[in-house]
Amino acid sequence: MSHNNIATLFTEREAERYGLHTRHLNEQMVRVLKTIGYDVGFRSGRGQYLYDRDGDRYLDLLSGFGVFAIGRNHPDLRDTLKTVLDSDLPNLVQMDVSALAGMLAERLLRRVPYLDKVFFTNSGTETVEAALKFARSATGRPGIVYCGHAFHGLSYGALSLNGDGIFRDGFGPLLPDCVEIPFNDLGALENALASRQVAAFVVEPIQGKGVNLPEDGYLQGVQELCRKFGTLFVADEIQTGIGRTGRFLAVEHWGVEPDMVLLAKSLSGGHVPVGAVLTRKWVFDKVFSRMDRAVVHGSTFAKNDLAMAAGLAMLDVIEDERLIENAATMGERLVEAFQDMARRYELVKAVRGKGLMIGVEFGAPQSFKLKMAWNALEAMNSGLFCQLITIPLFKDHKILSQVAGHGIHTIKLLPPLIISDEDCQWIESAFDAAIADAHRVPGAIWSLGKTLADHAIKARASG
Ligand SMILES: Cc1ncc(COP(=O)(O)O)c(C=O)c1O
Repeated sequence: MSHNNIATLFTEREAERYGLHTRHLNEQMVRVLKTIGYDVGFRSGRGQYLYDRDGDRYLDLLSGFGVFAIGRNHPDLRDTLKTVLDSDLPNLVQMDVSALAGMLAERLLRRVPYLDKVFFTNSGTETVEAALKFARSATGRPGIVYCGHAFHGLSYGALSLNGDGIFRDGFGPLLPDCVEIPFNDLGALENALASRQVAAFVVEPIQGKGVNLPEDGYLQGVQELCRKFGTLFVADEIQTGIGRTGRFLAVEHWGVEPDMVLLAKSLSGGHVPVGAVLTRKWVFDKVFSRMDRAVVHGSTFAKNDLAMAAGLAMLDVIEDERLIENAATMGERLVEAFQDMARRYELVKAVRGKGLMIGVEFGAPQSFKLKMAWNALEAMNSGLFCQLITIPLFKDHKILSQVAGHGIHTIKLLPPLIISDEDCQWIESAFDAAIADAHRVPGAIWSLGKTLADHAIKARASG
């Protein structure tokens, strides 16, 4: 069998994917997909759309957890990657410095002029690890402060800053001297920093888990307190950065200038892993302080030509197609539409978002029959309700979406930044129909809830 043509190989064997994963990879993931009916066998992806084995088109509101900001398989990105492979570039010489990395760093810093240096990595979590090491090294302090519900990645340093038990349980002990405080609580931050032993406060400007927005004045207060106590203000923009919220960085909405900005996910357009720490010169100079410390932190594949070239191409696409502006416009339209639904449907409690990072929160209804159904489901499995919306969205309306975290009632929209008015229309009518169905008791949606809860109970009992 020739492995030369990966497209032929994919066509020949893609139907075996679930069996292969059950045998050789994560069997639980296959069980999840089959239980919720997501095992449709996606065969291709273009832009904001995915196509399944029957040729049905889906609108992707997940964008690979936020990596496909410019959509899947963008022709400019594809051409750039092909060009790199066709150009015999001197990739990863290691005892040289990368020309493409220099150019990408220059481009990024032009967008964030108060920072001076870039350190490239291969993923989000690796970017967080670098920031933690840099912060400790630069300040000579051990402490790290982070927020409840924070998500910064799942390697040990980043996991030590995770604000949700489910990710941490069973993996301890974690990094010492990491302290959790509530998001949006400046008093708690002041108490945590007052010892002057804290190297960094690491915070997502908009939290991904739950789509929690900072209150007015919060990030300005964070900046002031960090400066007052000599703590580095680290903005994890791995999900919010590069246009997602309708600005290049989310922190621009609140006019603050962190000491470090962390990027990853969409930075390379999604097809090549990448990450970047943007930071101040003095921080960098403390870490890479002498010639014999020139490689004191690094990673073999960081700054590889495919990632760096993809980063340059991604920034071109963002600018050429005015995608930051599009994210702002489409996001505003969607938030308005969801706010209208919140007025019309008692199950919709709140709508939060900036640009194309939007959370739709559901909550206990008032009317008697609906409240009984809600309470019964909550008693069986808290947080399951959102699946009663996302499953019909997928099955009946061909929309791929996600619940914004464990045990919470918020559905998150994180579509590619290229979505059009037509796509927004699709989203609005699909959500409207699925939410309207959820208000019918008894009805198909609540029967689905009972089935899912029974499944979950059985799975727990057997496993
Ligand atoms: C804000 C934030 N930080 C860090 C990460 C970790 O990135 P990665 O999955 O590439 O390690 C994520 C991923 O979801 C994220 O949303």
